[in-house]
This record gives sequence, structure tokens and C-alpha cells, in this order.
Amino acid sequence: MLTPEQIRKYDEEGFLVIPDFVEPSACERLQQRAKELVAEFNPNGIVSVFSTHEQTRTSDDYFLESGDKIRFFFEENAFNADGSLRQSKERSINKIGHALHDLDPVFNEFSRRAEIKELVDDLGFSDPLLVQSMYIFKQPNIGGEVTCHQDGTFLFTEPLRVLGLWFALEDATIENGCLWAIPGGHKAGLKSRFVRTSTSDRLEAGYRPPETSKTHFEVFDGASWPEEKLQPLEVEKGTLIVLHPLMPHLSRENRSPKSRHAYTLHIIDSSADYSKENWLQRSAEMPLRGF
Ligand code: FE2
Repeated sequence: MLTPEQIRKYDEEGFLVIPDFVEPSACERLQQRAKELVAEFNPNGIVSVFSTHEQTRTSDDYFLESGDKIRFFFEENAFNADGSLRQSKERSINKIGHALHDLDPVFNEFSRRAEIKELVDDLGFSDPLLVQSMYIFKQPNIGGEVTCHQDGTFLFTEPLRVLGLWFALEDATIENGCLWAIPGGHKAGLKSRFVRTSTSDRLEAGYRPPETSKTHFEVFDGASWPEEKLQPLEVEKGTLIVLHPLMPHLSRENRSPKSRHAYTLHIIDSSADYSKENWLQRSAEMPLRGF
């Protein structure tokens, strides 16, 4: 699947852009399925917002329990002051996560395509497991920014054996909030981890559990990101971007009238130890599966 030159580039730069990895009809099939899922979704008073600005505050149970479910998260800017939606429900969802690849037949089929397995093999994952999937809408006008981060912060294994696959289902441009990455930025090490706060941690800190966040960041390196080195990855529909778990990346707000749909899949290697402190956990009834 990958040429030696592509593998070298991934090792050297920490990401890889592969145009035309997915045919347009497959992109459209995922878009159509996401549309159906949102249409079937009844918020029923459950409103969970996804924001990278105050991630610990917004990590509610609905989010923390979504590792083995299909759940819907709203854009931070989706609401009026009185709590009503500014746009239709369809135009207000930030993302769907985090087990689409195991629970939905259409996403399962896409996520376990032979060419994805080959690519993962080529990058040295001998026994891959599909750990997380997200359908990201980056809605027109209100699509929120995702601040600079490394995926290893949220999905940590020891040793660190994680791959991020980002599929552009629509053209991604600077205007509608494409990814930005720092070439070679994966060589600087992991800056932080986003972990579940254990009950003993909370008691030790003198807090009562209900008043305390269930997650926190463990910071190893508090220096700010060299954001001047970020490069925009403007890509066409059907492009796959492979991200190293230490690659610093972000996407800016979408203030344009165009959406920027993407599907992301995270893969770990079963030879590495998946941390019990990671926010994303599976129930015993739904273990991680490979291809
Ligand atoms: Fe990411």
C-alpha cells in the first residue's frame, strides 16, 4: 500500500497525506449514513457539548461513557442564550463518537477495508485494534476550533503505538477549517496526558467527587506550541491524512458557509498496553476488535 518513500516521509515528518485514498462514492455513503444517524437522534434533554477549550469541565458522563457507543455532541456555538438551537439540529452537531466502527454496519464496513489494514500493516502494526472513531461535521458558520494537541494525549499506550487516520469526506481548505500540522513536530515528545481522575485522587485533593472533574490533564511540558511552524493541510475529498500520535495538530474555526466533514479512526497495536487511565474505556461486553 505504501511506498518506502511514503514510510520514510511519515517517520521524518510525523504525518502523511494520501490523495484519492477513498473513492467519492464511499465518502458520500458515510455522509449519507451520518445524516441518517443525526435524523434518528433525539436529544431528549441530553445536551453534551464538545469543546477543546474547557475539556475537563465539558467531560460529562455522556462523553466519558461514549467509548463503546454512538453518541452525539453539539457545537459550543450552537445555542442561543436561552438554550435554544441557533440552527437546525442537523447543523448543530459537532461530532458523532466513539464506536461507530463497531456498532454501525456502514462505518464498520468502511473502517475495516482491506486497504486500510494494508496501510496499517505497512506502518508496522502487526496486530491492530480499532479503538476510536469519530464523524466530524465542522459545521458551516459555527464549526468550533480544535486547539493544538497530540492524539497520544487522549489515547495513550505503552509503548506509544497509536495511529490516527483522518479521512476528508469533503474538500478541506483554510477557509472551512482544514487540519494544520507541524512537520517534524512529533520528535519533541508527549506534552500531556488527559486522564480519568480516580476517586482516591479526588479524596486526596480534599474534594468531594460530585464537585470535582472526572478528568484532568497531567502536564509534562507546559511550554506553548511553536504554532508559527504549523502548516495547513488543504486536501481534497477522498484524501487520507495519517497522523503520528505525537504530531501536534489543530483545526481552526469554520466561519465559512461550507461544511468540512471528516471521518477519523484511531488504531492501536495489541502488543502495547492500553492505559486504564485513558478517558476512553470499553465495557467487558464490547472488547476492542481488529480488522
Ligand atoms: Fe487529533
